[in-house]
Amino acid sequence: MRIHKISERVYAIHADIKSDDLFEGIWPIPYGVSLNSYVVKGEKIAVIDLVRDWVGAPAEFSAQLASIGLEVKDIDYLVLNHLEPDHTGWLAEFKTLNPHVEILATAKGIDLVKSFYKIEDGLRAVKTGDVLDLGGDVKLSFIETPNVHWPETMLTWDERDRVLFTCDAFGSFGSLGDRIFDDEFNDEEHKFFESEGLRYYANIVASFGVFVTRAIEKAARLDIGVIAPSHGIVWRQDPCHMVKKYSKYAGYLEGPREKEIAVIWGSMYGNTEKGLTAALRGIEDVGVPYTIHRVPNEDVSWVLADSYKSEGILIAMPTYEYRVFPPMAYVLSILERKHVFNRKALRIGSYGWVGGAKKEYENLIAPLHWESLEQVEWAGAPSEETLSLLYQRGRELAKAVDPDRP
Ligand code: FEO
Repeated sequence: MRIHKISERVYAIHADIKSDDLFEGIWPIPYGVSLNSYVVKGEKIAVIDLVRDWVGAPAEFSAQLASIGLEVKDIDYLVLNHLEPDHTGWLAEFKTLNPHVEILATAKGIDLVKSFYKIEDGLRAVKTGDVLDLGGDVKLSFIETPNVHWPETMLTWDERDRVLFTCDAFGSFGSLGDRIFDDEFNDEEHKFFESEGLRYYANIVASFGVFVTRAIEKAARLDIGVIAPSHGIVWRQDPCHMVKKYSKYAGYLEGPREKEIAVIWGSMYGNTEKGLTAALRGIEDVGVPYTIHRVPNEDVSWVLADSYKSEGILIAMPTYEYRVFPPMAYVLSILERKHVFNRKALRIGSYGWVGGAKKEYENLIAPLHWESLEQVEWAGAPSEETLSLLYQRGRELAKAVDPDRP
């Protein structure tokens, strides 16, 4: 990979991470993720956001820096928009290589530099409106944007070159290869990053939707020429493309959402699956689109992304040992944590010896404030009468999601 020039004074460094490791220890990244850092050159040199020591990222960082004639020891200022270790895990070693660097972050960020990395000197806490003068008419200013996606986060703004460095905000999963700018990717590739962007948003940022909206309002006051996140594409041709997407995703919290249904199902011996087939026919006959995920076979990361955007949720799962099917309990807990609230919902499922899932399910979804159709449960294999009822409930759910359908 090579360094990319954003302007005469601003460069993007990035490392593509391809690993079986889970992002945040939870989320799969089968298509990788990029860790982007930025170099801003005035008379002094600043780097914005660092990397974690992960799949050779520090070596990649140093090699790309060297390609513009710089070494780690030449960096005067390290600006940390966000302290999560995917952007800072290499900080202790970086500081050892360059003991004279000054580290800038919000006050909460500086606390984290101390607690994560035990660094006590060369620290400067900054707040909204503070300016770092690099000399040569190059200045960086800071805008606090708490909770995008942890409490210490901020944006950094280069007014002269109109570049906004946003760290996690406006980022996505997906590695970049040797390209980094939006105008270097074709339509199909943009579709891929859009899908990985939604998954990233739903997995990483969704709990903080209100704060995303506030951050977008702050960013909207700037005359942005380039959005430079620390994961994913750098947006220069259509700088606000991802800002608009994030605005839409943040809007899913209160609605409107996509008139779609996320179908999440699990089945032990096929009886719940048979009932689901009838409910799906009902949805299909109304014509509402749906996505479908079997758990635990499919990771919750994708289940969450589709649930997050959809107005409707169909849960199909049997009773297991008098209670909810265990993988579905995990899914429901993630949907609650990530604020998948106020959906139109239906739960169906079979039981063998005795029921029990119905009651526990009701308790689990109580904090989600779903508008639920009456559950359909049946003993053993579904009868013709049950299949007919399930077909009808599928239709009812589809009509609740999109009342304009005939
Ligand atoms: Fe990319 Fe919240 O770290």
